[in-house]
Amino acid sequence: MRILVTGGAGYVGSVVTEGLLKHGHSPVVIDNLQQGHRGAILPGVEFVPGDIGRQADLESVFSGKPVDAVMHMAAETVVEYSMTDPGRYFRNNIVAGITLLDAMVRHGVTKLVFSSSAAVYGEPVRAPIEESDPQAPVNSYGETKLMFEKVLAWYGRAYGLKHISMRYFNAAGATEHLGEDHRPETHLIPNVLKAALEDRPVRVFGTDYPTRDGSCIRDYVHVADIAQAHVRALEKLDELSGRAYNLGNGDGYSVLEVVTAAGKVCGKPVRAEMHPRRAGDPAVLLASSSRARSELGWEPEYPDIESIIASAWKWTKAHPRGYET
Ligand SMILES: NC(=O)c1ccc[n+]([C@@H]2O[C@H](COP(=O)([O-])OP(=O)(O)OC[C@H]3O[C@@H](n4cnc5c(N)ncnc54)[C@H](O)[C@@H]3O)[C@@H](O)[C@H]2O)c1
Repeated sequence: MRILVTGGAGYVGSVVTEGLLKHGHSPVVIDNLQQGHRGAILPGVEFVPGDIGRQADLESVFSGKPVDAVMHMAAETVVEYSMTDPGRYFRNNIVAGITLLDAMVRHGVTKLVFSSSAAVYGEPVRAPIEESDPQAPVNSYGETKLMFEKVLAWYGRAYGLKHISMRYFNAAGATEHLGEDHRPETHLIPNVLKAALEDRPVRVFGTDYPTRDGSCIRDYVHVADIAQAHVRALEKLDELSGRAYNLGNGDGYSVLEVVTAAGKVCGKPVRAEMHPRRAGDPAVLLASSSRARSELGWEPEYPDIESIIASAWKWTKAHPRGYET
């Protein structure tokens, strides 16, 4: 199938594109490169530089060879900025997203898999979180993801759009050719590995949470496993349209446990520099992924933290300056 991947030059989008190629699909990437990298677009992948909020850019994709389905990953993603500049998040994650949906409707494209987020739940009522748990985002980023899930439901009713939302927890790890290179980088694992590479301490925010060692507990899921889930969702869109799936491993690791595991993988301990809590960080975020396992047949290949970190470390050593090298 010819699949349009929005944000396919970004971290998750590039690995999903790689997964689509492996399964014999023909991915087309549209990305405005505000965070993405040309180096993350694999040879053989059609690339359309452009913005999903611009109708003309979308026309140049949809008026070519027919698109069978869309994987929608383009978004503003930094939670912290979503608190200081919410307009940017609503414009890109909602308004531009609707521009994309309208282009799909005009061109008769009826299938979409959406990159949603654990941020739709806000402060969780339990761990692990089930998809049916209350959704009460605590930042505008999470609000945009929840709103877009609802927009999809209305496009389903109005135009017969078939859609699945994937609520990722913490995407992590790398494949042989593709890794994580955000500017700025706000995610723990690439920051710990960069600290290890540069022989400096990594900052840990909050050591007085009610957890086993006082630091926050998060659920890390290998980016290649996220890609696998997307391919499965694509195959089952007709049957499972309207469903949302948590993608995580259910086994949480504390920030300090990740720092220790990274030390083991890198062969030298990484020093942690303790800082006060950041506002809005829940103590524990863990996914129940039993729905993804039973309905999509999803089986993560890299559930343990050391294999996730090892894959990221390999990529970091090969690309010490990210995609610039
Ligand atoms: N990385 C995670 O841990 C995580 C967790 C939960 C959800 N998500 C979601 O998954 C998706 C991918 O996340 P990521 O970490 O790969 O982010 P990313 O920033 O690496 O990728 C997003 C890509 O979208 C592109 N983009 C943004 N706005 C665009 C626009 N208007 N038009 C065209 N391209 C545009 C960016 O240039 C970038 O390449 C996002 O929707 C994000 O919200 C990610």
